[in-house]
Amino acid sequence: MSVVARDLSHSYGELRSLERIDLAVGDDEVVALVGPSGCGKSTLLEIVCGLRDHSAGEIAVEGDTGAAARLSHCAYMPQKDLLLPWFSALDNASLALRNRGVGKAAARVEAGALFERFGLAGFEGSSPQELSGGMRQRVAFLRTLVAGKPVLALDEPFAALDAISRGEMQEWLAGALRAEARTVLLVSHDIEEALYLADRVVVLAARPGRIVAELQAPHPRAEDRDHAVTDPAFVAVREKALVALREGTG
Ligand SMILES: Nc1ncnc2c1ncn2[C@@H]1O[C@H](COP(=O)(O)OP(=O)(O)OP(=O)(O)O)[C@@H](O)[C@H]1O
Ligand SMILES: [Mg+2]
Repeated sequence: MSVVARDLSHSYGELRSLERIDLAVGDDEVVALVGPSGCGKSTLLEIVCGLRDHSAGEIAVEGDTGAAARLSHCAYMPQKDLLLPWFSALDNASLALRNRGVGKAAARVEAGALFERFGLAGFEGSSPQELSGGMRQRVAFLRTLVAGKPVLALDEPFAALDAISRGEMQEWLAGALRAEARTVLLVSHDIEEALYLADRVVVLAARPGRIVAELQAPHPRAEDRDHAVTDPAFVAVREKALVALREGTG
């Protein structure tokens, strides 16, 4: 198992943000977390990545329970892109490689090779302020992917994209994961995105944040996304997830 949470709880003072979470993510498994705003998805991701302490229970990543060790196994893409304003898009994208000890020129070549595929060609030298929200998100996403960590923790990676770019990025990520499997914990607001990208979708309810349903995706990361999401098996699971979400929100 790559990520294991047992009886994990967290509070912000009086507010019970997560209650008794039991979650196990296998090696190279993709698990999506969906749930209403404020149900603790980002908090859970931060705890997994060792960026926030939990209040009770256990958490391990790649067998390690210490926060620093957990962080060392995770490439984390926060909900806010956190690009460095004084770095160009290319140097922001290269950052994770530089942190791994790759030299500046080599890091620029490796990250730069992905710019075209991410729809960023020509913007290598732009500063983050000169990019659109969707482009900034793609730079942050690229930086996370090239970090070379076993676990990807992605908090709403496509939230700032329009529907078309969003579908394209989902297909692209699906292809990337087919080519090179990774353990992924993905937060999404979009049930269709979650069911297309993930092997398993975990539905959370709010106040307190807890798991209310777990659903197996019928065609994870299928090559033809449009076909997969209109398949009757997919539609049936989506309906189940929506019911669980509605019950959790109400
Ligand atoms: N630093 C903080 N201090 C106090 N309360 C917080 C803090 N961060 C989050 N919360 C509260 O904890 C709960 C869970 O927040 P969290 O950001 O994890 O939710 P989320 O599921 O990621 O929501 P969203 O879908 O809007 O991103 C919310 O009620 C939020 O108001
Ligand atoms: Mg969040």
